[in-house]
Amino acid sequence: MRTLTVNLGARSYPIYLGRELLAQAGEFIQRAGCGEKVGIVTHPKLAELYLPILEESLKRTGFRVVSVIIPEGEEHKNFASLSLIYDRLIEERFDRGSCVVALGGGVVGDLAGFAAATFLRGVPYVQVPTTLLAQVDSSVGGKTGVNHRAGKNLIGAFYQPRLVIIDVEALRTLPPREFVAGLAEVIKYGVIADPKLFALLEQKLDRLLGLDRELLVDVIATSCAIKAQVVERDEQEEDYRSVLNFGHTVGHALEALTGYGKFLHGEAVAVGMVQAAAISSRQGVCDETSQRRISELVQNAGLPTEIPSGIEPRELIQAMEVDKKSLGGKIKFVLCRGIGATQFVWFSAEEIVAQLAGE
Ligand SMILES: NC(=O)c1ccc[n+]([C@@H]2O[C@H](COP(=O)([O-])OP(=O)(O)OC[C@H]3O[C@@H](n4cnc5c(N)ncnc54)[C@H](O)[C@@H]3O)[C@@H](O)[C@H]2O)c1
Ligand SMILES: [Zn+2]
Repeated sequence: MRTLTVNLGARSYPIYLGRELLAQAGEFIQRAGCGEKVGIVTHPKLAELYLPILEESLKRTGFRVVSVIIPEGEEHKNFASLSLIYDRLIEERFDRGSCVVALGGGVVGDLAGFAAATFLRGVPYVQVPTTLLAQVDSSVGGKTGVNHRAGKNLIGAFYQPRLVIIDVEALRTLPPREFVAGLAEVIKYGVIADPKLFALLEQKLDRLLGLDRELLVDVIATSCAIKAQVVERDEQEEDYRSVLNFGHTVGHALEALTGYGKFLHGEAVAVGMVQAAAISSRQGVCDETSQRRISELVQNAGLPTEIPSGIEPRELIQAMEVDKKSLGGKIKFVLCRGIGATQFVWFSAEEIVAQLAGE
């Protein structure tokens, strides 16, 4: 097992990473100082696959366990699911020491985290991410929230977990398309911060797609370490944390325009990264070789690279402007300086779309 630490002073917490850690979750959660009651938030399918082993481990350690099963899908990251969680915690008389555990992908993690942030003005919570995206990204860093009908993640809080438990074995049941979508965020870490990680992905892509356990642990550990470093430097995204948005300006716009149906998040980000690399090259910030390597790795991973032809530039501009990161009409856009470094520029949505068109 590997242990990483997210260093945030009093809010610091460990990430445990390895194989078959679910069966040890009880001891880990006890060590994190959670009270007697634990509420596990998960989805029906994950409840079938992983709840018995997690519950067993918690009960063996002396916890009283209840579970809240939320329907799966981005459309359920909403107030109705949040209410289900609050209702259950109130029914079971959870107190300020009781603990919430998120067993699932980013949807469960964001929901359970926000419930924990707000219930009784904050109870401890633990992330047990089961998608690659959640293991390398959403479970670390303390962004929690729910969607509003006016937009994604409009309601939320920065609230750090007490502990993250990453069991790579869980990825064996993840649909391959979800796994590949998560890889997009791993590729992103390589581009923004780590040429060695990027080269490793290039060289060992097949083994990774074959879920080679040792390689998975390596790649996830490196990704979490990068995310942790960024969060340690700028926890509340006042400035630097937005490097994590590389590929996300165009990616978010694509997701919004296609109604969160056509693209998985990572797939939209993959297109966004290839396009951001092309813009970086046009701006003279990224060399051609790096641009080509980014585009090839994305493609070889089985991810999309192009904006669908049916999408009009005008629609893209509108979708980018409702993005909450826009400030005074300009959007903070992340360029890559080759592989392993970034640079911020402020663009209007019109400028970005003109750049995409190569103008
Ligand atoms: N908080 C953050 O910092 C942050 C960062 C990135 C994304 N997000 C959020 O994360 C969400 C997307 O997360 P996601 O990509 O993990 O999607 P998800 O949580 O919807 O999970 C994808 C699907 O995989 C299933 N699944 C999960 N683990 C499985 C497993 N081990 N075996 C079989 N099936 C499994 C789920 O039931 C679901 O159907 C979005 O809502 C996004 O806004 C948050
Ligand atoms: Zn993302």
